[in-house]
Amino acid sequence: MAITIWQHLGKYKVPELHNVSVHIRDRKKVEDTLECFRKGGPNRVQVISDFDMTLTRFAYNGTRVPTCHNIIDNSRLISEDGKKKLKDLLNTYYPIEIDPALTVEEKLPFMVEWWTKAHNFLVAEKIQKSQITQVVKESNVMLREGFDVFFRQLHKNGIPLFIFSAGIGDILEEVIRQAGVFYSNITVVSNYMDFDGNGLLQGFKGDLIHTYNKHEGALKNSGHFEKLNDQRNVILLGDSLGDLQMADGVENMENILKIGYLNDKVDKLRGQYLKGYDIVLEKDETLNVVNAILQYISAQN
Ligand code: TMP
Ligand code: MG
Repeated sequence: MAITIWQHLGKYKVPELHNVSVHIRDRKKVEDTLECFRKGGPNRVQVISDFDMTLTRFAYNGTRVPTCHNIIDNSRLISEDGKKKLKDLLNTYYPIEIDPALTVEEKLPFMVEWWTKAHNFLVAEKIQKSQITQVVKESNVMLREGFDVFFRQLHKNGIPLFIFSAGIGDILEEVIRQAGVFYSNITVVSNYMDFDGNGLLQGFKGDLIHTYNKHEGALKNSGHFEKLNDQRNVILLGDSLGDLQMADGVENMENILKIGYLNDKVDKLRGQYLKGYDIVLEKDETLNVVNAILQYISAQN
């Protein structure tokens, strides 16, 4: 059987890149990038990651795992009427979010509509800040398999992790805290709840982040990236085509490796994902490939 030198080297370097879940458009480019990352070592690396359905699982035993918003939507904090309204929004707008036939420009107004309506419905439900911890505890949220190794490895090697999420900051922080992995190397940018003096939800702080405006959000956070002057090698983790813009605020980038989870509409979206992401992980509920890459970069030469 003919085996190219690159396939051979690929097998040798990070064997997980030959898992059945892994799809790569240009294996040589990935190998070259990995080589640069390896040469630079962990001190030159930063990770920029989406949260929902990237660090959390998409499904478990055939059932969808809740996003930050879903954690609240499905909880006892929401009235039956509110639950129905939020479910209707999900059924209307999620298919638009992942529709392979629509351009990002076409999707944009619908995303703003979805987030705006959902946040207004949540405010109407009179949510108390003090209830958030318990609601996350009672939810079915699950981080991807291998999350403990992922977070621990980044922390141990001093690799900054920037979590950039269109979900809800208060909820995702709580998920990570309860999993015991909210280490000091983590920075979160997301939609944070705004509570009044009595701890009652009255809105959301700052500019809205939705799936397809992460370019603007990334530029607004260029101050954070400026501080990371040495970390010019970026690993980007996402699950949506909008996540491809999350590193746009990094000015002095030398190399970037974009890893994308393709969770839904796999056959129809494969082409677009392979164009945007260097490594596409299909129906892979684990962080094993990412962990293997991090281990390869961090191993002593
Ligand atoms: P992410 O940027 O962390 O992936 O979070 C965004 C996800 O949140 C996106 O895939 C859609 C999802 N979402 C809900 O599940 N319910 C909602 O009400 C809204 C506004 C978004
Ligand atoms: Mg996501």
